[in-house]
Amino acid sequence: MRYFSIESEFGIDRLKLSERGVPRPRHGQVLVQMRAASLNYRDLLVVEGNYTHEVSLPLVPISDGAGEVCELGPGVSRWKLGDRVVGTFFQDWDSGDISENAPKTALGGAIDGVLSEYVIFREEGLIEFPKDLSFEEASTLPCAALTAWHALKSGRLTCGQTVLTLGTGGVSIFALQFAKASGAKVISTTGSQNKMEHLKVMGANEVINYKSQPNWENRVWELTQKKGVDQVIEVGGAGTLGKSLKAVRMGGHISLIGVLSGAFGEVNPMQTVMKCVRIQGIHVGSRTMFKEMNKAIEINKIRPAVDRVFRFSETKEAYRYLKSGSHFGKVVIKIGDLE
Ligand SMILES: NC(=O)c1ccc[n+]([C@@H]2O[C@H](COP(=O)([O-])OP(=O)(O)OC[C@H]3O[C@@H](n4cnc5c(N)ncnc54)[C@H](OP(=O)(O)O)[C@@H]3O)[C@@H](O)[C@H]2O)c1
Repeated sequence: MRYFSIESEFGIDRLKLSERGVPRPRHGQVLVQMRAASLNYRDLLVVEGNYTHEVSLPLVPISDGAGEVCELGPGVSRWKLGDRVVGTFFQDWDSGDISENAPKTALGGAIDGVLSEYVIFREEGLIEFPKDLSFEEASTLPCAALTAWHALKSGRLTCGQTVLTLGTGGVSIFALQFAKASGAKVISTTGSQNKMEHLKVMGANEVINYKSQPNWENRVWELTQKKGVDQVIEVGGAGTLGKSLKAVRMGGHISLIGVLSGAFGEVNPMQTVMKCVRIQGIHVGSRTMFKEMNKAIEINKIRPAVDRVFRFSETKEAYRYLKSGSHFGKVVIKIGDLE
């Protein structure tokens, strides 16, 4: 089988394509023939050696992938041959609060990921995906979709509320889709003029260009009749958190998710205090949340926004495309089509 790995040096150009025998599942394990993987910003951080968590090399990268069950180890009861499955980002976070062990089981970071023709999972580390979705679409769910879902749930979103999303990456576009399906209004930002129309087509009620309007938080304030939004899906980090604190309403909620504009910076804590804002760190989500999200995807017939599908042999181009920031939603790699 063919697989990509980061061997001893970081960098997209250093990704190595190799071949080895197909592994055999042991007790409680399942062998999955991978059909598609999707890229997250985190995968870029990992391959370039900028990830804040420690990774030990060599590493098979990428957390998110979908495929078909093709062999069962002894004692496996949850799966049968041919089941269409996705791996969970954390192989060990079933339900409840995140445990200390969960981050140690993160695919494509703490442990080998899915950029491989065959992957062994623990049987609890897999989940069935909504039947209407293709492998390419399903591969986008484990990290980006679940993070957006977890964030909106932690903010206790209700019908008629207003959600603010930042940029048009994977997490933000899923948040837009889930928020609209819940009957919420969405204000979205983007730094690209071309993507503004696309956001409207996806259902955004208002769109702001954060490059031509660097003080976009003032525009959010006006658009909400000087009340602020109920929730912010905060993927920007240090460069946007202060603005998000201005854009959120009294008693509103900020889901702290990402660091697209930097990980370190100054924030005035008094704004959080005076506005009684709830700031919640979000780290993907549990298997139980994933199941619940899949039901919502099925019922609302939500289709992940797949921007481009690259072939396995074009993996490096896929990473470069993500790095360019030209994408809208998700970038996917089809697995198993090497010429
Ligand atoms: N905590 C977690 O569990 C978790 C899970 C998933 C992701 N994350 C983090 O969340 C962030 C987003 O991840 P992703 O995979 O969705 O990213 P992505 O798909 O790579 O999205 C990148 C997009 O974000 C927008 N962007 C870039 N800089 C921005 C800025 N300064 N302000 C606002 N938007 C900006 C751009 O959209 P436009 O072209 O429209 O401007 C860009 O195309 C990353 O920091 C990632 O590490 C965290």
